[in-house]
Amino acid sequence: MRIAFAITAVSLFFPLGTSARWLGIPTVPFVESDPKETFSLRQLKYIIVDTKYQNTVDTEGETLIPPSLRSFASTFSDDLFSSLDLKVPARAGEAALPNSIFMTIGNSSHYLDAAGRPTSEGYSINITEDGIVITGASPLGAFWGTRSILQQGVLSNGMQLSSGSAIDASGWGVRGTFLDVGRHYYPPEFLIEMCSYLSFFKQNTFHLHLSDSPGLNPALTYEEKLDFYSAFRLNSPDPAVEDLNKRANESYSQSDFEDIQQSCASRGVTIIPEIEAPGHALVINQWKPELALDTDFTLLNISHPGTIPTMETIWGTLLPWFHSKTVHLGADEYSSSEIADYNLYVNTMHTYIGQNFDKKVRIWGTFPPSKIVNEMNINHNVSIQHWEYFEANPYFDFMKNGYHVLNTDDQFYIVAKWSGSYPQKLNISLIFHGAPDGGPTAPYIFDKSNASNNPPHDSPYVLGQMPALWNDFGPNSTSVIEAYYALREGLPALGDKQWGGDLLMHEYFSIFETLHAAIPGQHLDRRIDSRTNTILSYDFSSTGTVYDKSGNGCDGTIKRDCSVADSVLTLRMGCSVTTPLTSKGRNYTLAFSVRPTSSVPGTLFSGSASSLLTGNGSISNVMLITGGNAYSNRIDNATYLSVTPSTTSEERVLEFTATIGDYSNSFIWNNPMAIEAPVAVIGGDNFQGEMKKVTLVDGADAKYVEFVKKLVIGVAPYE
Ligand SMILES: *[C@@H]1O[C@H](CO)[C@@H](O)[C@H](O)[C@H]1NC(C)=O
Ligand SMILES: *[C@@H]1O[C@H](CO)[C@@H](O)[C@H](O)[C@H]1NC(C)=O
Ligand SMILES: *[C@@H]1O[C@H](CO)[C@@H](O)[C@H](O)[C@H]1NC(C)=O
Ligand SMILES: *[C@@H]1O[C@H](CO)[C@@H](O)[C@H](O)[C@H]1NC(C)=O
Ligand SMILES: *[C@@H]1O[C@H](CO)[C@@H](O)[C@H](O)[C@H]1NC(C)=O
Ligand SMILES: *[C@@H]1O[C@H](CO)[C@@H](O)[C@H](O)[C@H]1NC(C)=O
Ligand SMILES: *[C@@H]1O[C@H](CO)[C@@H](O)[C@H](O)[C@H]1NC(C)=O
Ligand SMILES: *[C@@H]1O[C@H](CO)[C@@H](O)[C@H](O)[C@H]1NC(C)=O
Ligand SMILES: *[C@@H]1O[C@H](CO)[C@@H](O)[C@H](O)[C@H]1NC(C)=O
Ligand SMILES: *[C@@H]1O[C@H](CO)[C@@H](O)[C@H](O)[C@H]1NC(C)=O
Ligand SMILES: *[C@@H]1O[C@H](CO)[C@@H](O)[C@H](O)[C@H]1NC(C)=O
Repeated sequence: MRIAFAITAVSLFFPLGTSARWLGIPTVPFVESDPKETFSLRQLKYIIVDTKYQNTVDTEGETLIPPSLRSFASTFSDDLFSSLDLKVPARAGEAALPNSIFMTIGNSSHYLDAAGRPTSEGYSINITEDGIVITGASPLGAFWGTRSILQQGVLSNGMQLSSGSAIDASGWGVRGTFLDVGRHYYPPEFLIEMCSYLSFFKQNTFHLHLSDSPGLNPALTYEEKLDFYSAFRLNSPDPAVEDLNKRANESYSQSDFEDIQQSCASRGVTIIPEIEAPGHALVINQWKPELALDTDFTLLNISHPGTIPTMETIWGTLLPWFHSKTVHLGADEYSSSEIADYNLYVNTMHTYIGQNFDKKVRIWGTFPPSKIVNEMNINHNVSIQHWEYFEANPYFDFMKNGYHVLNTDDQFYIVAKWSGSYPQKLNISLIFHGAPDGGPTAPYIFDKSNASNNPPHDSPYVLGQMPALWNDFGPNSTSVIEAYYALREGLPALGDKQWGGDLLMHEYFSIFETLHAAIPGQHLDRRIDSRTNTILSYDFSSTGTVYDKSGNGCDGTIKRDCSVADSVLTLRMGCSVTTPLTSKGRNYTLAFSVRPTSSVPGTLFSGSASSLLTGNGSISNVMLITGGNAYSNRIDNATYLSVTPSTTSEERVLEFTATIGDYSNSFIWNNPMAIEAPVAVIGGDNFQGEMKKVTLVDGADAKYVEFVKKLVIGVAPYE
């Protein structure tokens, strides 16, 4: 009887209080204290940074520019304001005070990764009714602890946190994503926003593939090959690499790259730069054609005496820019009749980079060591990024031979916009059910169906996991923001698995959008706060001024000699109306009536990510320009320009299309583009004419769809 009573007491107690984890992305092991107390984040007065450790930095992580504990605390202070509207200044101090968050550093050997090794990315949290103590294994660990507090603040009722404690550590060291910036340019600000996105979910790595080209048709003439789209995104003024970069305006200067790396590091994210060779090296062969392999103009001929010195020159010029301990050589998809040369290349670069720049290198898993019995093998200090079993088996070929492997298995590949083999967004059910036993995926799960191909959960050879977003169809098949939409929903879920969390799919969907709305340091959704669905409404009814009738106060400012009278805005060359907005993301309806009075094409609207033009000088189609690419809408006098989102699929946000395809795909495909609404400026260059009733509406309700159908571009009907 006594025993039964005790069990009853326990089962009564558990549902009332104790939970073993915080629901978050990732989940956090958390044990409520007994008796239970609460602490409201609204009580917070200070973040106190332990004076002893305020200048401490984490030297164990990938970055060579680790922020100090003090610096992370100041970012946390900013984030408390932007995510929770709390003003909590950070300052140094010897000890916690009531109503403070005390940030300090503890013994890092108490935080273990999946292989049971100490990790600097661990932290503990202790909440009492007086305040919160966050103890990091390092400043980075403490920063991850601050993400847990922010997330719980967002999710909890009234920012009330129950007393108790958490001890948490990342299972794997490399967590984040890969982005192909070689075949599509992304501005630095976008990459920095993506780092903020990753960081909120405790992801620490952003791998940038900095050079590449879309597939090259071998049947092209030599001149056509020299002219084919390719890009080397770093632009150095050093004469040693003069003319390697042919796209200055779609590149990163050293100061751009510095800014990207510093901004990302300030949130615990390390940029891993990849310069791809000896395969996917068209851009290098266009620069020095004599280095190309006779059989394939995208491959470098490693036996050519100029090849390795050229690659040493490129790396030697750019390595001083990089602040990661590891850089990526690419070394993907090379000629299988040149394996010995390939290994020579990788090992030579490994030695060169290690000896001269004290950095480690990583390559794509390409040739299994087993294939090259009598040849020189890849140095064991080169880490391998696995992507496909047809190249090599990550466990049997590499790990069992002593190589460390990063899991980028192509079960989590995505190809922007279209692909014959890969999806266009991360597959969420695969994240939550992608293990051979139907359980969630994890960094040690390379093969989703055959468990024998996977190393043990605690294998010390698994570095981590990241998905890859490729731009196989080149620069103009997507807009910049579409890369974000491909990752938006899936990447945080994968972040839980990369860390070692145990979130279930329904739990994920129950918190994702709420957390998403509070992610600091980014506005990737390009949302605009608005009282109603109507974000901006100009009817030009007040002579000489541009009042916004939406209630949001987004009045326009007339620059130069545009005039407003009788509900008409008259645009003359060089004059404009500027709004306080920049651009608006999915979904939107931008409606207006316009009547050109000159055939000279010009800009109707422009914004931070796009412009809407009435032609380009040789055609009179209405064109949306983004990332330097133009997307036109077939239009004649009788054609309505509809910017109506389709009801069938999120991808068909706009009717503006691009034609994509490549030499090996016979299709020509009208590819719908998702482009942000350009809403910063009306007019401003060569456009001359009249405009009426400019309205920006959030979303795509049926009533707006009807409204938009009245939109006319052309001479008539103009209402
Ligand atoms: C850290 O903890 C480990 C294991 O508990 C212990 O052996 C070590 O002495 C501690 N180090 C410090 C500096 O306290
Ligand atoms: C949390 O802090 C309180 C007050 O300092 C202390 O009594 C308690 O032992 C701490 N709990 C843990 C798990 O460190
Ligand atoms: C590679 O370069 C070497 C040396 O210039 C040359 O002899 C060889 O034919 C080239 N091989 C190929 C396949 O282009
Ligand atoms: C790998 O790196 C370690 C540490 O730098 C070094 O001691 C070891 O000799 C290297 N191994 C090889 C095979 O180069
Ligand atoms: C997503 O993954 C699941 C396996 O969990 C699979 O059944 C499904 O077909 C995949 N969906 C897509 C669109 O690839
Ligand atoms: C599973 O993987 C093991 C190890 O590679 C292999 O021997 C076995 O044939 C695989 N099983 C299936 C059904 O493919
Ligand atoms: C898209 O980019 C490719 C280069 O990859 C180029 O050949 C093609 O003309 C471009 N198409 C348009 C519509 O700009
Ligand atoms: C205008 O766009 C059309 C269609 O994309 C293109 O063929 C033409 O070269 C462009 N003209 C100019 C001047 O950019
Ligand atoms: C970069 O310049 C080229 C050549 O003038 C142009 O075609 C392209 O649109 C520009 N790209 C951007 C992002 O502005
Ligand atoms: C468009 O309207 C203009 C002016 O009214 C006219 O000259 C032209 O033929 C029309 N084009 C079409 C395709 O109807
Ligand atoms: C945009 O509209 C589509 C289709 O109605 C919908 O599926 C999607 O969730 C919307 N996207 C956003 C960001 O609201």
